[in-house]
Parts: sequence; C-alpha cells; structure tokens
Amino acid sequence: MKDGRAQLAEKIRKLRRERNAIILAHNYQLGEVQDIADFVGDSLELSQRAAGTDAEVIVFCGVHFMAETASILSPDKVVLLPSLEAGCPMANMITAEQLRQMKKEHPGAVVVCYVNTTADVKAESDICCTSANGVQLVQKLKAEEIIFVPDQYLGHYISTQTGKKMILWPGYCPTHVRIQAADIHRLRKIYPLAEVMVHPECRPDVAVLADFVLSTGGMIRHARNTQATEIIVGTEIGIIHRLRKENPDKVFVPLSEQAVCPNMKLISLENVLWSLEDLSPRIRVPEDIRIKAKKAVDRMVEVS
Ligand code: 13P
Ligand code: SF4
Repeated sequence: MKDGRAQLAEKIRKLRRERNAIILAHNYQLGEVQDIADFVGDSLELSQRAAGTDAEVIVFCGVHFMAETASILSPDKVVLLPSLEAGCPMANMITAEQLRQMKKEHPGAVVVCYVNTTADVKAESDICCTSANGVQLVQKLKAEEIIFVPDQYLGHYISTQTGKKMILWPGYCPTHVRIQAADIHRLRKIYPLAEVMVHPECRPDVAVLADFVLSTGGMIRHARNTQATEIIVGTEIGIIHRLRKENPDKVFVPLSEQAVCPNMKLISLENVLWSLEDLSPRIRVPEDIRIKAKKAVDRMVEVS
C-alpha cells in the first residue's frame, strides 16, 4: 500500500502525461517537489529547458519571475506557477519606472538586469543575465557606462571579476544576506578540510572568504567533480537535498540554517497537482512587454 505522498506523486505523473506537461523545478524547491520534476536546475538551465521543450504545458516550480521568463520565451505554451504568492522579494525591489528614471540620469549607459526582475524591468533592459553567466556577459560589453539592477551584491561580484565599474541598484536577496562571514569562520574550524562554495548573492565580505563563488547549477557541477569530500554550502538550503542525493559519499554542510527562501517553499505536491488539474494559475506576459523583454532574455539564453 502506497503512502499519501507516493499516491499524490503518482497522480501528478499520470496527469502530467495526459496534459503533455513538463515539470521544471529550481534547485531550492522542497525535496519532494524536486523528486517529481522532469528537470531540476538553476535559473539559466530552467530558462533554456522552457525555451526548448515540446511539451504544451510547463509547470514551473520556482518563483514568479522564473515562470514569467518561461512565458517570455515560450508564449504559445501554458505556463503554470502552482502558487501565485511565490514571488521573489529581490525582483520586487525595483520597478520599471525606477529603472526609467535611472536611465534618464545615465543616458547612453547599457542596462544589464539580473533575471530576478519583473518582465516590465526586463523590457527596459538591454541584456539579462543570471548568476551563471553574468561575469561572461559583462566582460564582453564595450560600453563606457553600465547600469546593473537590482542585486547590488551580484553586481559588486561581477565588477570584481571583470574590473568594470557599474552603477548598482541597492537591491539584495533577504535570504542570502542572512549568511554571515562569522558562519564561515565557525564552520572552517569544525571542518578544516572542507571546501566552501557560496552564491554571488551573498554579501561581499562572505564571498571573499569562500573558495568558490557559483550559481546553484555551478555548485551542483562542482560538487560532482571536486576531490573534496566535505563541502560547506552558502546558499538557500533547498539545494542540500539534491547535493546529497547525487553525491551520497560526500558531506554537505549548510553555511547557515537561516538561509531559507519562504517563497520557494510555497510550491507543494498538492498545489502542483491542483495546478495540473485546473491549468491554473497561469502566467502570461502582455505581448508588448514580452517582445521588448525577449530581446534582453534571448541574449541571456545564448550565453551559457
Ligand atoms: P541561480 O540562478 O543560481 O539558480 O539562483 C537563483 C536565485 O534565485 C538565487 O537566489
Ligand atoms: Fe529571490 Fe532570494 Fe528567494 Fe532567490 S533566494 S528567489 S533571490 S528571495
């Protein structure tokens, strides 16, 4: 006899087939949601999957801007976000109007936006990037002036890696700022042989102490390839599920137990099932905004 969770997962699999749907899940999703997904990845990998799939329905297990990006890339598909409350507070730290004002103050500047933005902000930007390709994208820019929104810490990290000065918006991720430099000092004493990897959304005083600064997809690849057997992980703790599952012989220690993104946890097996049953809540970007935003997003997807 299967337990309730297994029955729920079974129902989702059946409906997924009937609806010709694909389930995409971000690396921060709850373990049982990751386990039901067709593909688990970082923001860039998920956008690429959304752009390339033959499925008619995309169930996006992540936050609002991720589903919006899928809809920008695949407007003919039904894109579902099982909980409409699953937003990204960082993405909501800048509006299109605020960006227009910033552009007025710096005419001629190239605007790079982090993928963690609304479609309206992407529509006002020249290039979109993720934490996986931001350094690569900015490196190539010839512009005298570059505006980077909204994450000041990712922007700062990209500046240090490219040597390019950028005009930064003071946004930040409320989850990643909970990770402190003191956490690294404390855990290095307990695990002196461990490698420390952190996400570039962490504060600069944390990033500078890490051995590796990586996107969540970069962390998954690094954990697979490194000789180290103990790894301290400085990002949202949902990623620990996948790291342990794929590397059962290695030890993964969260840098901070406080690094929980409540929005990522709003997706559950229950609302994935309901969303497949009702084909809602559906995410759609108005066509005029989508066309403008797509130019910036296409440049992001090309550089991988
Ligand atoms: P990744 O693109 O590295 O998966 O990060 C997304 C995100 O929201 C980090 O907080
Ligand atoms: Fe947004 Fe931070 Fe949550 Fe990522 S972890 S979705 S940046 S609030």
